[in-house]
Amino acid sequence: MPLPKLSPLQSRLAASLIASAMLVILYFAISWPHFAYAAGVDSIRPEDHNHERLLERPYLDLDHEELDLRGVSYEAEFIGFDRGIIGRATTDPTALINNVAVTTNIPQGQVMSYMFTNASLWANKSPATSGLPSPIQLQGRSFIPYGDDLDTSEEDEDEDEEDEDEQDPELRLRPRQSTTASQRTLYITVTTCTQPSSNTTTELPPQLQLYVSQSQNNTNPGPSQDSGSQTMMELVNGYALYEMNATGDVFMGIYAKNDSTLSGTYNAQIAASIDAPYHYYWNSSDPNLFTVDSDSNAALLFTDPLISNSSNTTLYEEWMDIIPPFQIFASDTDSTSIMGLQNSYCGLQTNAQIVASRAGQTSTQIVTGMTDIGSGTLPKQQFYVTGLSAGKSYNVALAMNGNSTASGDGVVGGGGQVFHMTSFSTLQSDNCAVIYGLSFCDQVAYSVPANPNNFPNMSSLAAYYDNATLYNYGFFEKARAQTPCDTTASAQYSLARNCSDCDAAYKQWLCSVGIPRCTDFSSTLSWLQPRAQGQPFPNGTFLDPATLAYVNNSAALNGSRNASIDQNVVPGPYKEVLPCEDLCYNLVQSCPAALGFECPQPGNIGFNESYGLKPIGGADINGRITNLTCNFPGVVYYLSTGSQALPSHILAIASFLALGSLLI
Ligand SMILES: *[C@@H]1O[C@H](CO)[C@@H](O)[C@H](O)[C@H]1NC(C)=O
Ligand SMILES: *[C@@H]1O[C@H](CO)[C@@H](O)[C@H](O)[C@H]1NC(C)=O
Ligand SMILES: *[C@@H]1O[C@H](CO)[C@@H](O)[C@H](O)[C@H]1NC(C)=O
Ligand SMILES: *[C@@H]1O[C@H](CO)[C@@H](O)[C@H](O)[C@H]1NC(C)=O
Ligand SMILES: *[C@@H]1O[C@H](CO)[C@@H](O)[C@H](O)[C@H]1NC(C)=O
Ligand SMILES: *[C@@H]1O[C@H](CO)[C@@H](O)[C@H](O)[C@H]1NC(C)=O
Ligand SMILES: *[C@@H]1O[C@H](CO)[C@@H](O)[C@H](O)[C@H]1NC(C)=O
Ligand SMILES: *[C@@H]1O[C@H](CO)[C@@H](O)[C@H](O)[C@H]1NC(C)=O
Ligand SMILES: *[C@@H]1O[C@H](CO)[C@@H](O)[C@H](O)[C@H]1NC(C)=O
Ligand SMILES: *[C@@H]1O[C@H](CO)[C@@H](O)[C@H](O)[C@H]1NC(C)=O
Ligand SMILES: *[C@@H]1O[C@H](CO)[C@@H](O)[C@H](O)[C@H]1NC(C)=O
Ligand SMILES: *[C@@H]1O[C@H](CO)[C@@H](O)[C@H](O)[C@H]1NC(C)=O
Repeated sequence: MPLPKLSPLQSRLAASLIASAMLVILYFAISWPHFAYAAGVDSIRPEDHNHERLLERPYLDLDHEELDLRGVSYEAEFIGFDRGIIGRATTDPTALINNVAVTTNIPQGQVMSYMFTNASLWANKSPATSGLPSPIQLQGRSFIPYGDDLDTSEEDEDEDEEDEDEQDPELRLRPRQSTTASQRTLYITVTTCTQPSSNTTTELPPQLQLYVSQSQNNTNPGPSQDSGSQTMMELVNGYALYEMNATGDVFMGIYAKNDSTLSGTYNAQIAASIDAPYHYYWNSSDPNLFTVDSDSNAALLFTDPLISNSSNTTLYEEWMDIIPPFQIFASDTDSTSIMGLQNSYCGLQTNAQIVASRAGQTSTQIVTGMTDIGSGTLPKQQFYVTGLSAGKSYNVALAMNGNSTASGDGVVGGGGQVFHMTSFSTLQSDNCAVIYGLSFCDQVAYSVPANPNNFPNMSSLAAYYDNATLYNYGFFEKARAQTPCDTTASAQYSLARNCSDCDAAYKQWLCSVGIPRCTDFSSTLSWLQPRAQGQPFPNGTFLDPATLAYVNNSAALNGSRNASIDQNVVPGPYKEVLPCEDLCYNLVQSCPAALGFECPQPGNIGFNESYGLKPIGGADINGRITNLTCNFPGVVYYLSTGSQALPSHILAIASFLALGSLLI
């Protein structure tokens, strides 16, 4: 068949068209495998050490038989082939890099696909970092499935640095995981940052689902794929950790269920790591955080002790000198903003009403620092949260930003840690206020009688109480100076105690008697002692006259234990958590008899209004007896077992004492 005649111009045009077409074909022929990686690679930061490796090696794991299979699969997606099934992937699998999170919007009813290549899986592990001074130990660890793995992985990192060329460091270093040369532990984590909302129902949105496949036949795992070739894990409160033995390429899908009552999309982070989980939720009932005390607009919270004893002073100092590693997030319990997301660091950060201050810094609402208040002088991190509302409950979760000194891409554990959410309540009335940080009564950290009209802020109120106590301590010092002690052992009033024991016992007693622990007058707990009922509340109102008539002739009920509080603070009616009786017995036992200290006996006049008894009975799941039936400086809670807040021998000694009923 003769070709149509072409003019010279037409010929040139045709030639150039053919050349262009051939160029396009050549381009695709040479470069199509790149498209499988384009999405992920473009978003990689150049400083990530895996970046170059991935750029160099995308062909390394394609030089096998499955090259063709995978090529077809990716090409089909590249040219927009619609597989026409519910829950289909809307994008090519995004390549994940070790310890780099990918944040994605996931529309309802859709699956987002990701992959972690065999090349990344077998790359070198990240070098070991300094870590915290000692691993975090939860007291009530009911289950911490992955906590131990975090520790071992740190050891692994140590070792890996030394012998990176070992043909099989895994086998030797991770005996408990019994990972073999052909498989490696991969930690896949997903956290939800935002979720759809509803204005018709209060039900929480469904949780995202994570699908994982290692089959080259299922490169887009999701709800529509064969369940035999994939594993599904539903997020719990916005978090999932899937720990797997990976052998080659790993394919992942995040699926958002479709719920027509909800509007909006999900936003989630996914990360894969061969080192340790990038995001971490401490799956234990122990929140690692407890409320020391609260008032009507502030709360004081401590972490659990970071070490179990202070016998290693180096370790103690390392913890006390550290830049505070933890943060807290809180929300009013009336608000549902963090519900369903409370195990997710980015979920808390995005949705909590009271957002963590960065380590070492102060925000308008949270002041944080390290403290060793309490029995055993154990390091803890404290949080003083202000700007709260009266008579409210708050949900609160302890968290860590990244590994506490670095966060984000390329950091092992850079996605942050979250502990089990807990809650606290604020007091109703403003005549009790939390104080802490006193210089003399340094163990005082609780709510005390207050009046915002007379002491407008915490520091002025704390300074008042500290000075008043120190002033009274001066009288004791003078009396004690005239009592022989610290001479020779035989001349001492007691073989067991010396003058410094007496000083310490008096100080502890004086601080707790001189700085009463205060709570709402409206509280109905049976062990509380009503005080100052004859005074007006700070807002000027009095209790109703019927109550007043009853208290008129009772000094204990009508005034504070210490008259100077009524004169200077004028708190109005409050209830006192009485000092523990042990404080008085300890004082009598520790000081020379010549000083004349005596304690009222239980059952005798004056005891019930002056001292409280330590609780007997039930404890919560973490061994804490949370009902504080008596107070002493440094009490934070009682442990039913193990370290007792006051040494038990003090109680034993008390029973040998035959004391009068004189009230001190
Ligand atoms: C989600 O459900 C609604 C109503 O049932 C439907 O109109 C919509 O097409 C669904 N979306 C997807 C992505 O399946
Ligand atoms: C956190 O990660 C950074 C970067 O990897 C590292 O330099 C630092 O030592 C780590 N911090 C801790 C407490 O491990
Ligand atoms: C929720 O309320 C907004 C405005 O009040 C409205 O535009 C939206 O359609 C509502 N969504 C649902 C699911 O009812
Ligand atoms: C993948 O599919 C092929 C053909 O259907 C089958 O022969 C092979 O066993 C499958 N592989 C896996 C891992 O399921
Ligand atoms: C915590 O562990 C339990 C038991 O192993 C498991 O059922 C639950 O899903 C886990 N929670 C989270 C948030 O991973
Ligand atoms: C990994 O494989 C080992 C045996 O090779 C097994 O004991 C372990 O449970 C596996 N881990 C997971 C997470 O499947
Ligand atoms: C994965 O990579 C390792 C080391 O490069 C290699 O030995 C192994 O055969 C690869 N596996 C697959 C399934 O490609
Ligand atoms: C202190 O704690 C360490 C480990 O945390 C332990 O080995 C040691 O026995 C403890 N010392 C005392 C006196 O309890
Ligand atoms: C004390 O703690 C330091 C710092 O963590 C550690 O290097 C040292 O080995 C510990 N000493 C003992 C006796 O445990
Ligand atoms: C004054 O304060 C007390 C205690 O907080 C409260 O019970 C009372 O209702 C208040 N009175 C007025 C008029 O606000
Ligand atoms: C606290 O109140 C006192 C007045 O009692 C005032 O002098 C001081 O500046 C206040 N401090 C702060 C931090 O507001
Ligand atoms: C400390 O208390 C004493 C006795 O109440 C008082 O005289 C003195 O002025 C107070 N000092 C300060 C600085 O408040």
